[in-house]
Amino acid sequence: MAKLNYFFVLGNHPHLSRLEVEAVLAQSNCRLLSEKILAVASPQTLEEEKLIKRLGGTIKIGRLNAQCKDWQQLKQNLSAALAAWAPPQQKIYFGFSTYGFKNDFNIKSLAMELKKQWRQKGFSVRWVTSRSPELSSVVAEQNKLLTPQGKELVIIKDKKSFWWGETRAVQPFKEWSLLDYGRPCRDDRSGMLPPKLARIMINLARPQTNQTILDPFCGSGTILTEAAQLGNFQLWGSDLSKKAIANSQENLLWLKNKLNLKFKMRLLTADVARLSQYFGTSSVNRIITEPYLGPQRGKIDIKKTTATLNRLYTQALKQFWLLLKPGGRVVMVWPIFYQNGKKYFLSPALGKFQPLKTNPECLIYHRPQQKVWRQIVILDKF
Ligand SMILES: C[S@@+](CC[C@H](N)C(=O)[O-])C[C@H]1O[C@@H](n2cnc3c(N)ncnc32)[C@H](O)[C@@H]1O
Repeated sequence: MAKLNYFFVLGNHPHLSRLEVEAVLAQSNCRLLSEKILAVASPQTLEEEKLIKRLGGTIKIGRLNAQCKDWQQLKQNLSAALAAWAPPQQKIYFGFSTYGFKNDFNIKSLAMELKKQWRQKGFSVRWVTSRSPELSSVVAEQNKLLTPQGKELVIIKDKKSFWWGETRAVQPFKEWSLLDYGRPCRDDRSGMLPPKLARIMINLARPQTNQTILDPFCGSGTILTEAAQLGNFQLWGSDLSKKAIANSQENLLWLKNKLNLKFKMRLLTADVARLSQYFGTSSVNRIITEPYLGPQRGKIDIKKTTATLNRLYTQALKQFWLLLKPGGRVVMVWPIFYQNGKKYFLSPALGKFQPLKTNPECLIYHRPQQKVWRQIVILDKF
């Protein structure tokens, strides 16, 4: 295997994030160094700033500088590399994020040594710390660690060795929050897909430029607005509710103006059961969607709800098969009902669709306290 030269700090759903990175980089030369650190061997130089804006499930991207057999070697290697650093000003900032170590691991002595080295060279030095072993994206950015005057040093312990690297880009937290909370229409009652998950799903669908993406349960348009930011696609959306279509339209137009985007959209009010009559058969390249997930509040009657949803999803999948062109892909959410420590999955009929062969547990997205979890399902029409 080629040399591992980049690291990706994966978000709270590392399996999904890893699949997303592999889909976007179109390569499988990847290895997990710890639960949340994916090392990648990339023969091409990656544009970290651009890439982090594209990914929904990655928190930081950086360069892996060295693999060391023990802690002593790591310290020597890191000190030597930093001695060659020529910061543009006399004030410098550095911080550490560590991954894969036991909780009692303490970075203090290494940080103090580095601080001393730089002070002796006449620099004023600020060591940026936080309560957790990892600095957040906000802390790294707001404390200048990503500027030419700063460094976020990342130290990773895998089963056999130690690695160190430097962060080059962190998730653009301000942009994510502006687009999530700034959009004019929200519908918290019928449930909105988290925009980062929408982004992961689009990347897993791997749409090509100018292809048609359809969200047949578009709600307020989270998937369509995320897709609009990723490239030039034909964006089609439909929903049973007129209000949902009006919301999607308003959100899409808001985004188009805000980011000066160019895309074509087609939105219509329609029941999924008859969708191929409206859009035409073999008309769509990718279907990316989160359908109705059942009641979100109160006590859920699991038997009744799963029976109703299995019928709706089976009907929807029949339509998806008709709508998709050969080579098309569906990436969708199926709800999982979580009650008394047990998970209840849906099982609609897949027809001729080929599901991606991955352990379903790896494709689960949920937040603590949620009763309805999300399973990401990938189906191909070969
Ligand atoms: C969970 S919401 C989708 C939310 C959307 N992903 C978002 O982030 O805004 C499910 C949507 O499915 C729509 N829906 C329910 N049954 C439908 C049907 N039979 N055909 C089409 N849309 C339907 C609802 O009106 C609702 O907008």
